[in-house]
Amino acid sequence: MGGEYVLKDTDFLVSQTDEKGIILFANDDFCKIAGYRIDELIGKPHSIVRHPDMPKAAFKDLWETVKRGEIWSGYVKNSTKNGGYYWVYATVYPNVACNTGRCGFLSCRRKPSAKEIAEAEKLYKPMR
Ligand SMILES: Cc1cc2nc3c(=O)[nH]c(=O)nc-3n(C[C@H](O)[C@H](O)[C@H](O)COP(=O)(O)O)c2cc1C
Repeated sequence: MGGEYVLKDTDFLVSQTDEKGIILFANDDFCKIAGYRIDELIGKPHSIVRHPDMPKAAFKDLWETVKRGEIWSGYVKNSTKNGGYYWVYATVYPNVACNTGRCGFLSCRRKPSAKEIAEAEKLYKPMR
């Protein structure tokens, strides 16, 4: 149970939300690494993978940025279903799929380096 999953160089986690942060889509890498089946994720708030070590201010900044129509990127520590965690470097894009009438957001995540993780840990610790 638990522990860190260190992303592989080839892991690429994608998810899409509506304007409220409800999950509309997640790719296989996201499901596998987070430990959920796709049907357990669709329709749930994205905070389902939130880790308590993540400062609120990081998500406030994420939401303010994408709601302005800008791209947000940053380091995120997420929880897995079985109580583990994994770090990602995420890039979140605003206003995807507007032609469907459901404007939403898209996040693409890759492996951060060990150095980047150590720096993000140092930055976030006093913010908790
Ligand atoms: C496209 C997109 C992807 C997101 N991905 C994550 C994520 O991987 N992990 C996470 O904790 N929050 C993610 N969020 C932020 C959540 O919506 C939420 O704001 C956050 O988990 C904090 O939860 P709270 O707002 O209930 O405090 C994402 C938001 C968007 C728009």
